[in-house]
Amino acid sequence: MTEDKDKFHGNENMTDEELVEIHSKLNVEKHPPTKGFLSAPLIFVFVFGCLIFVCSIQLAHSTNQFQLHPPTDVVDLTDEEKEALRIERKFESGKKIFALRCASCHQANGLGIPGQYPPLDGSKWATSDPALVSYIILNGLKGEIVVKGEVYGTSAAVNMAAVPITDREIANVTTYVRQAWGNNSSEISTDEVVQFRQDTSAKQEQWTGDELVEMFPAVFTN
Ligand code: HEC
Repeated sequence: MTEDKDKFHGNENMTDEELVEIHSKLNVEKHPPTKGFLSAPLIFVFVFGCLIFVCSIQLAHSTNQFQLHPPTDVVDLTDEEKEALRIERKFESGKKIFALRCASCHQANGLGIPGQYPPLDGSKWATSDPALVSYIILNGLKGEIVVKGEVYGTSAAVNMAAVPITDREIANVTTYVRQAWGNNSSEISTDEVVQFRQDTSAKQEQWTGDELVEMFPAVFTN
């Protein structure tokens, strides 16, 4: 200890050179060489860096570039495909309306009930002039009519009331009726139905079969 003290602390008799040498020795003691130690943390930094990098790539892949709400794929449909989709949707909507509003009488297969409810499958009333079928839904129908060679409406108790649905719903359900089962007629647009409703706004009561036959001669001759 005493020797150490002498060695490092020296005394008044020391030369400048000796002092400098002693101090540089002291410095080495106070700050031990870090050469071997420095490389260990560096390796960790490198390894963790790589880990974060790889994880980020993985995350970016599995989280759609970190977007919370990634844009849904934009599908470009051709005009024909859009048209086909529009018709399909209209038909499906019409089918639902039919099930709710018409099928209880005319039946889901469109064949009606013999002697009671007339068929829509193959009926001129349903598949000819767009105005005719729309008028029937707008105001209802009573009295005797002939559908596919059979007479219906012989009993006053069996008639059709106006169906209270929107113009768009009428367009959809008539389009469905005109294209379902064996039917293959043109669609009816909402604009047409708007016009049909205006044209018949003065009519309060149900149509009679005779009235309509007279109004649509082209449909019933032959
Ligand atoms: C309550 C039962 C009932 C409901 C519901 C009903 N109809 Fe009718 N429908 C009848 C009856 C009954 C007749 C025949 C009336 C007559 O003989 O005067 C008829 C006649 C028709 C006719 C003309 C004749 C034919 O068979 O083509 C069409 C078209 C028609 N209905 C379409 C529809 C549509 C579309 C709906 C639904 C939006 C509908 N009906 C809802 C009872 C109904």
